[in-house]
Amino acid sequence: MTEEALARVAAEVKTCERCPLHLGRKKAVPGEGNSQASVVVVGEGPGANEDEQGRPFVGSAGKILDALLAEGGLERREVFITNAVKCRPPGNRRPRKGELDACYPYLRRQIDAIAPSVVLLLGDTALKEFFPNRSLGEMHGTVMVRDGVRYFPTYHPASVIYNRSLSGTLDEDFRKLCGVLARSSGLTQRPRLDVK
Ligand code: URA
Repeated sequence: MTEEALARVAAEVKTCERCPLHLGRKKAVPGEGNSQASVVVVGEGPGANEDEQGRPFVGSAGKILDALLAEGGLERREVFITNAVKCRPPGNRRPRKGELDACYPYLRRQIDAIAPSVVLLLGDTALKEFFPNRSLGEMHGTVMVRDGVRYFPTYHPASVIYNRSLSGTLDEDFRKLCGVLARSSGLTQRPRLDVK
């Protein structure tokens, strides 16, 4: 059921014309990963590599994300990775409000279908989708709840490329995420998902 719901979203995203971003895309990037994930990862939007391949976080930010996930005891194949917008904004600019609003129903449906323990929000754009009045500076590394869903905001992995000093903060947040997951499973050691 979850897989079907995710496949429907992906099919709709690939032909979506709800906002102008579709005009410049090579490939839409609906998101991918484990349909039974305990963590849904939400980035900002596809970059050039993602636009080429139609897959999320395959460029340099993706390498950093993989390392951070490992810090939290997670592998990429255990999580579901998606973005606030599914088509690349020109020149990697931040997505505009109309673009984010047009794409939000896809993100919502992905989260609702998977019903993860935690939605990991990477960066300010992802945070503001759910908590428009909150800032990363005050909320990163904490669990935030909205409509019964738990969110965990932290900095975007690409931010360490420009600001090395955030690296330690990101590592620490991902270790905290590991603790959050362990507590939510009621165990000190989180069981590994039975992934193929
Ligand atoms: N940055 C994002 O926010 N998402 C991607 O998929 C790649 C880089």
